[in-house]
Amino acid sequence: MTTRILGIESSCDETAAAVVADGREILSSVVASQLDIHRKYGGVVPELASREHLRQIVPVVREALEQAAIRLVDIDAIGVTQGPGLVGSLLVGVTYGKVLASELGKPLVAINHLEGHVHAVFLEAHREGKSPELPAVCLIVSGGHTLLYHVQQSAPDGDAAKGGFQYRRLGGTRDDAAGEAYDKVARLLALGYPGGPIIDQIAAGVNKSAAPGALLNVKDVLHFGPVKIKGNPYDFSFSGIKTAVLYYVRAHPEFNEEMEARKKALQEGRRKVADLLPLCSPRTLSLIFNFQFAVVNDLVTRTLEAAAETGSHTVLVSGGVAANSELRKQFLLKAAAKGAHVFFPSRALSTDNAAMIAAAAYPHLLAGDLATSELNADPNLRLA
Ligand code: KG4
Ligand code: ZN
Repeated sequence: MTTRILGIESSCDETAAAVVADGREILSSVVASQLDIHRKYGGVVPELASREHLRQIVPVVREALEQAAIRLVDIDAIGVTQGPGLVGSLLVGVTYGKVLASELGKPLVAINHLEGHVHAVFLEAHREGKSPELPAVCLIVSGGHTLLYHVQQSAPDGDAAKGGFQYRRLGGTRDDAAGEAYDKVARLLALGYPGGPIIDQIAAGVNKSAAPGALLNVKDVLHFGPVKIKGNPYDFSFSGIKTAVLYYVRAHPEFNEEMEARKKALQEGRRKVADLLPLCSPRTLSLIFNFQFAVVNDLVTRTLEAAAETGSHTVLVSGGVAANSELRKQFLLKAAAKGAHVFFPSRALSTDNAAMIAAAAYPHLLAGDLATSELNADPNLRLA
């Protein structure tokens, strides 16, 4: 007998629904992104987000059921994101999930969004026929989070999809999340929103360019030293890097002309890398490249140190920034040298989705860990 769980995710600016069988087989995964709504504000506007979730939740769930060729009455359980996230956004999913579960008489499972991100890595590994060994360290790196956990199997020798995990928090950001730093720096440099994908692509363009050395040796360009943090070595801090970019841009009025050109391009809807790259001077390209290198290097170094310290041979990387090509490259390169295996979700499973929520719900369902009709959204829910 397969157990088919309907997952519902609405913690931030993606309305998502998915059907997953036995915690590992994705039967459907539908994500309605609100990017076009929030783009002109350069970030997620909570009021607009919850209004859009209200509009999208019913058609998105319907589409997920249709794609999985399953009727609502044939679902075995509903998994819904309880937190962390934006309270108004979470409330839409939680309320809808509760109503559905009670109308259908099906079990409801409350899921921590962060646990969903951990399961996203396992979903992808399963798709590739792999099974990451535990214990592991897991880096969750997105627009809202930069967190490092130690992950263990709840029941030793159990099946990862069935048994569920235990988490210990190793560290987290003291200020901005890494994705937030990408978004803020992109905004400072007039590269549009969200910042991660465009900075990723521009930096990759620099890497592939005919003369990357020349670009990177631009005179008087900003270089970032390693991020120094007192206390916990597994904490992160990205606001210093962002502020350094701000001061550097302010101190160089010669940036103004190209920034105006990029702003104009963005206003006209020309926001792709092919549109913006030609509007970046070598100095800007160099700045983007160095910024990304500083962030990626810090994420990779601290995570691998945490893996070594905890005796974990597995590293799991999840969240929107896990889609970053330089991050993937550096992790694969440096982990191999340390004898660690790194696992990422596919790009689609890296960013917010409901398949990861349905997958995370499975072990909780098997353990009888169910939510009641009293379930409420918890914007500050912690994983450990
Ligand atoms: O996980 P996610 O979809 O939502 C949150 O929970 O925040 O992550 C979105 C974040 C944004 O900050 C975005 O700029 C960043 O992930 N991001 C990236 C890339 N793709 C998305 N950052 C760096 N490189 C990328 N390729
Ligand atoms: Zn997320």
